[in-house]
Amino acid sequence: MKITTVLNFDIMLSLLLFLAFAPWCIHSEERLLVGMTLVRNATAHGALCLDGSLPAYHLHRGFGGGANNWILQFEGGGWCNDVSSCLKRATTRRGSTRFMSKLEVFSGILSNNASLNPDFFNWNRVKLRYCDGASFSGDSKFDNGTSLLYFRGQKIWEAIILDLLPKGLASASKALLSGCSAGGLATFLHCDNLKKMLPSNASLKCLSDAGFFLDVRDMSLNYTMRSFYHDLIALQGIKQNLNQNCMSSMNHPELCFFPQHALQYITTPYFILNSAYDVFQFHHSLVPPSADLHGHWNNCKLNPVACNANQINVLQGMRHDMLTALISFYKNSKRGGLFINSCFAHCQSESQDTWFAVDSPRIHNKTIAEAVGDWYFGRRVTKEIDCPYPCDTTCHNLIPSPLV
Ligand SMILES: *[C@@H]1O[C@H](CO)[C@@H](O)[C@H](O)[C@H]1NC(C)=O
Ligand SMILES: *[C@@H]1O[C@H](CO)[C@@H](O)[C@H](O)[C@H]1NC(C)=O
Ligand SMILES: *[C@@H]1O[C@H](CO)[C@@H](O)[C@H](O)[C@H]1NC(C)=O
Ligand SMILES: *[C@@H]1O[C@H](CO)[C@@H](O)[C@H](O)[C@H]1NC(C)=O
Ligand SMILES: *[C@@H]1O[C@H](CO)[C@@H](O)[C@H](O)[C@H]1NC(C)=O
Ligand SMILES: *[C@@H]1O[C@H](CO)[C@@H](O)[C@H](O)[C@H]1NC(C)=O
Repeated sequence: MKITTVLNFDIMLSLLLFLAFAPWCIHSEERLLVGMTLVRNATAHGALCLDGSLPAYHLHRGFGGGANNWILQFEGGGWCNDVSSCLKRATTRRGSTRFMSKLEVFSGILSNNASLNPDFFNWNRVKLRYCDGASFSGDSKFDNGTSLLYFRGQKIWEAIILDLLPKGLASASKALLSGCSAGGLATFLHCDNLKKMLPSNASLKCLSDAGFFLDVRDMSLNYTMRSFYHDLIALQGIKQNLNQNCMSSMNHPELCFFPQHALQYITTPYFILNSAYDVFQFHHSLVPPSADLHGHWNNCKLNPVACNANQINVLQGMRHDMLTALISFYKNSKRGGLFINSCFAHCQSESQDTWFAVDSPRIHNKTIAEAVGDWYFGRRVTKEIDCPYPCDTTCHNLIPSPLV
């Protein structure tokens, strides 16, 4: 249980702090800041953040040729899978809109500048704020008389869509549901049901960034992520919101929370963007603190150059597991796209330097923005898999620091 608390908070916070103070931010020119919209009538829909506050999104309007197109981007930020970690989260910006910044920077895939975001700059762009702790999929409540928590991610998702429909989403012609980390996972959970809420002639595609969490054993052979998701699903009442076709063929609901098991049941076209050495998965699924009690991995976690040969082998094993989990999608998905690079990163679509910049990561000389755009608009088949670490010289190897 201890691991789980660390998983929720400290690492995500340090990652976000790192991103917030990354050098590209300081040098960036005009930053687009977008104000928060609270979903005022969400209470009637039972859609509340962990602490009971109203859910929210940030909308920046599209224009010109993009005026009828929509990007919906789920915010990420870990999960909380027990009452005590959710109570703690409810007092932070991860569990309450009361503590959130009211202005969000829109960069990378959310930028409105054609030279920074060539294919989506003029679309309506929405960031859905994350305050439920379960990738927008829970539907229950904890109330023991003294403590109260709302687990209403599924309702929040629905209430935001209902709020956006009359603002133009109801006449969307193109749409892209995206998200990073826990938000990337949310795209797998909601992609097909968004299709039903959009006009039938709208074209919907979905993009997961760093959301392809693997169902693997950790270094001590425990299924750390599987048991984490098992607890999360039970606590937050997620079972009924999982893909029902997946549920009827898998015995354990937590398996359907993993994209690798759910993907075959999703019918909407998908793009999977992930690093084969995703730092979150490295630090929490593969080598969680519980599997490295003596801290043998600490230096390697901080800098891949410090990893010994054995540790590199373990990391190559994680890449192998990811490619194996994607092999059928790679070979058989006709409308799918893939960009699996070999940078030590986590989330590459929201920051300008990894999305589209002169020195951003590339595979076969293609940036992530180009790969996603080529796939979305059907300009060419885009299924890019990088060579194994350390061959890629375009990586920035962003490692969140300090580690806990
Ligand atoms: C768009 O980005 C380019 C490249 O960073 C910059 O030179 C230009 O000033 C930006 N345009 C606007 C309108 O911010
Ligand atoms: C309710 O749950 C909280 C958190 O688990 C606990 O601290 C508190 O003592 C519980 N209250 C009652 C009345 O059981
Ligand atoms: C909230 O109100 C808006 C506008 O009145 C309406 O379109 C929407 O359906 C409502 N949402 C919910 C969740 O009731
Ligand atoms: C979808 O159908 C509506 C109503 O017939 C029409 O106005 C709209 O242009 C169509 N959208 C697309 C993308 O074809
Ligand atoms: C991991 O598995 C070992 C046995 O392999 C067990 O003793 C230990 O309690 C497990 N740790 C966790 C955190 O589940
Ligand atoms: C890579 O792409 C850039 C444009 O993004 C181009 O200028 C450069 O020549 C390309 N390099 C190679 C080796 O093709």
